[in-house]
Amino acid sequence: MKTRCLAATEEAVLLASGIIKSGGLVAFPTETVYGLGADALNGQAVLSIFAAKGRPADNPLIVHVSDRGQAARVGRWNERAGRLADAFWPGPLTLLLPKDPDISFAVSAGLDSIAVRMPGHPVALRFIEACGTPVAAPSANLSGRPSPTEAAHVLSDLDGRIPLVLDGGPCSVGLESTVLDLTGREPLILRPGAVTPGQIAELCGSCLVADSVMRPLVDGETAPSPGMRHRHYAPRGKMTLFKGQPDKVAAAICEAYDASGNACILAFSGHLHLYGGRRTRDIGQDAEQAAQRLFLVLRSMDASRVDRILCETLPDEGIGLAVMNRLMRAAAFDLVNADSR
Ligand code: TXA
Ligand code: MG
Repeated sequence: MKTRCLAATEEAVLLASGIIKSGGLVAFPTETVYGLGADALNGQAVLSIFAAKGRPADNPLIVHVSDRGQAARVGRWNERAGRLADAFWPGPLTLLLPKDPDISFAVSAGLDSIAVRMPGHPVALRFIEACGTPVAAPSANLSGRPSPTEAAHVLSDLDGRIPLVLDGGPCSVGLESTVLDLTGREPLILRPGAVTPGQIAELCGSCLVADSVMRPLVDGETAPSPGMRHRHYAPRGKMTLFKGQPDKVAAAICEAYDASGNACILAFSGHLHLYGGRRTRDIGQDAEQAAQRLFLVLRSMDASRVDRILCETLPDEGIGLAVMNRLMRAAAFDLVNADSR
């Protein structure tokens, strides 16, 4: 199959919505990462997403909507969900609700709950509206690769496997949405994202964070979200994270760098000068920029065939929690405390 990549003009969006209506797949931009969409009401189309990505069949998809009417069609709403949607939609918050019986188990991978989100990106909203149907979409990468934050990343993973990529430029958030389980008594974050536990607690009175967010699953443990059970992106080179005082972190990183062959240091802009002449990549000035750049930087590590990746960390507060969650998985939880060396 030949894959076209078109700038997201109205004409291209209409072409894309035609593909969705006839049961095909389209990659489209959102504010978080690019999604790979299919008609959520067409079970066959939904199954073809799993084939194109090489995604395990037991990992459920998020349904994307352009209005609250569509959202009400896919899941059972309550007052709390309505309040959260009022506050954060369109935006990077996915709500987990009891599934409407009409929605295929292909979307929810057999679960009775359904994940739903209204993306905060004008192209995504216009595209879903033109489709006239809720759009089921995981991130538009091959399973096991970092999520795509640019159309070029989608092409590098899915060229030849899907008919069309809508190019809406780089994603502004850069990390996948916060997944919030609303099926229990207290809201529970299954995957941290740009909408933070603090913001949710402010609105709902409390917000729990699944403790598996910052640690590996132990043998036999069931993941609160199926996506957490699967192997996550790991770069080709061995990756280690370092925490502690910046000068101690820099000393520990320099020592590891000097002891290895083809290494690269991932550091915040304000610390680059601590690494005198060694090969570095700037991950940004703050947590927001780190979120925006993380997947791009990790993709570039593989492209430049780095063997050893030495990376600074940040406090797991605000969006820092989401950045650390992705970093910990990319580094297979290899974290050095530079202060206690
Ligand atoms: O920002 C995002 O969320 C992006 C864009 C495209 O919207 N999408 C995305 O989808 O990251 P995906 O499929 O890569 O991640 C969806 C996550 C997975 O970890 C999945 O297990 C979880 O949401 N999920 C979906 N439905 C669920 C359900 N019913 N119960 C528990 N977890 C669910
Ligand atoms: Mg994904």
